[in-house]
Amino acid sequence: MNVVILAAGMGKRMQSDLPKVLHPLAGKPLLSHVIDTARTLNPSRVCVVYGHGGDMVPSRLAADDLRFVLQAPQLGTGHAVMQAADALDDAVPTLVLYGDVPLTAAQTLQTLVEKAGKEKLAVLTVDLEDPTGYGRIVRSENRIVRIVEQKDASPTELAVREVNTGILVAPTRALKSWLGKLSNNNAQKEYYLTDVIAMAVQDGIAVESAQPAQAWETLGVNSKVQLAELERIYQRNIANTLLDQGVTLADPNRIDVRGGLSCGRDVSIDVGCVFEGEVVLGGGVSIGANCVIRDAKIDRGVTIKAFSHIDGATIGADAQIGPYARLRPGTALGTDVHVGNFVEIKNSQFDAHSKANHLAYVGDATVGSRVNIGAGTITCNYDGANKHRTVIEDDAFIGSDTQLVAPVTVGKGATLGAGTTLTKDAPPDSLTVSRAKQISITGWQRPVKTKKQD
Ligand code: UD1
Ligand code: CA
Repeated sequence: MNVVILAAGMGKRMQSDLPKVLHPLAGKPLLSHVIDTARTLNPSRVCVVYGHGGDMVPSRLAADDLRFVLQAPQLGTGHAVMQAADALDDAVPTLVLYGDVPLTAAQTLQTLVEKAGKEKLAVLTVDLEDPTGYGRIVRSENRIVRIVEQKDASPTELAVREVNTGILVAPTRALKSWLGKLSNNNAQKEYYLTDVIAMAVQDGIAVESAQPAQAWETLGVNSKVQLAELERIYQRNIANTLLDQGVTLADPNRIDVRGGLSCGRDVSIDVGCVFEGEVVLGGGVSIGANCVIRDAKIDRGVTIKAFSHIDGATIGADAQIGPYARLRPGTALGTDVHVGNFVEIKNSQFDAHSKANHLAYVGDATVGSRVNIGAGTITCNYDGANKHRTVIEDDAFIGSDTQLVAPVTVGKGATLGAGTTLTKDAPPDSLTVSRAKQISITGWQRPVKTKKQD
């Protein structure tokens, strides 16, 4: 089928310079949600009708399978679909979606498409307590005969609670001919897409309807309040899915997933955690409160303690991270690694059982197994122009407050004394220490305060 996504409306109530459809929901533009749902239906063509924000919409969302057409000026929903007409294949039906309605389920669209088949028109409708503002579905003997907009409706029509969601499927060749016959002779002086319904009835084409499983699937975003409401609905749905999979959530209203989160069995997540990008948590993983975790693979049995920030890292089984740990991109930790508070690790590998428990910066380092990195250790990986590597071999012990001036290697089983500034390689199995000799002066007197002279 063809898909046309209407995204030219300006979204004035968003009070923003960003085109409405680019505002993020769960970390992804509204329009991308619609495009991704459309893709699940395997459409042969997807055409996005955009309007505001210069070429921001096509340039940010460009993809091989998308075509963007500009609608300027915006003369109504029918006019918008008309702009896409040349891009539509007559041989297959056309599905019209709205770029600001992000949460429609693929299954709902699938049902609508099946209702339409090859030759019928199908409209997604919903019954609302308060239908104000929406186009009303006018039926005669239970068959849809037309849609009337709020501003054009009679009192009887205004009483109808079944409304048009805007989403419809139509046979393409017929749709194009109806679009050509639209007029803007109505209350809003717009070319209404909804007028094609009465034209179909006149041409003897059956008009079917389908309803979404959930009413919120058809909610649109016109303001920041509505955006925030949809964000909460989306997040609550994700939380429910995680709960159904057996994940323990301390509070399903206090987790945000902006991407994909996949969890093994018996995972538990405390309040205030944010997951971004693709995150995989193995069985038995426990995440403490207020962690931000992005693009990470965390193996089974790992404990992440409160307030940790993890980005672009892989963490081996049974590791213990945090509280207050920061793992940056390129971090790969082996089994049972311990990373404690105020430790920052970047682009570094730690093999099994190694530890950096307090206050350290480890960047561009290769760390072997069973290494102990003391408090205050810093890899001096950057000379102001280039980054250099630090290698710490198995079983090394790095004393507290050590600076490792890269490139440098600490040999297997080596010990560095506290306070060492390592500028040359430390040989294996030896103590290396660089430190001014300690002296004590006996009988030394502390200075005393001199009397103020006048
Ligand atoms: C439209 C429907 C109405 C339906 C309602 C559901 C028409 C005439 N009316 O009303 O029956 O109940 O949606 O929300 O179709 N757009 C363009 N170009 C335009 C005009 C609109 O791309 O020239 C896009 C908007 O960005 C939006 C969608 O079409 O995504 C709907 O536009 P909107 O102005 O919200 O339509 P309504 O008048 O609310
Ligand atoms: Ca609307």
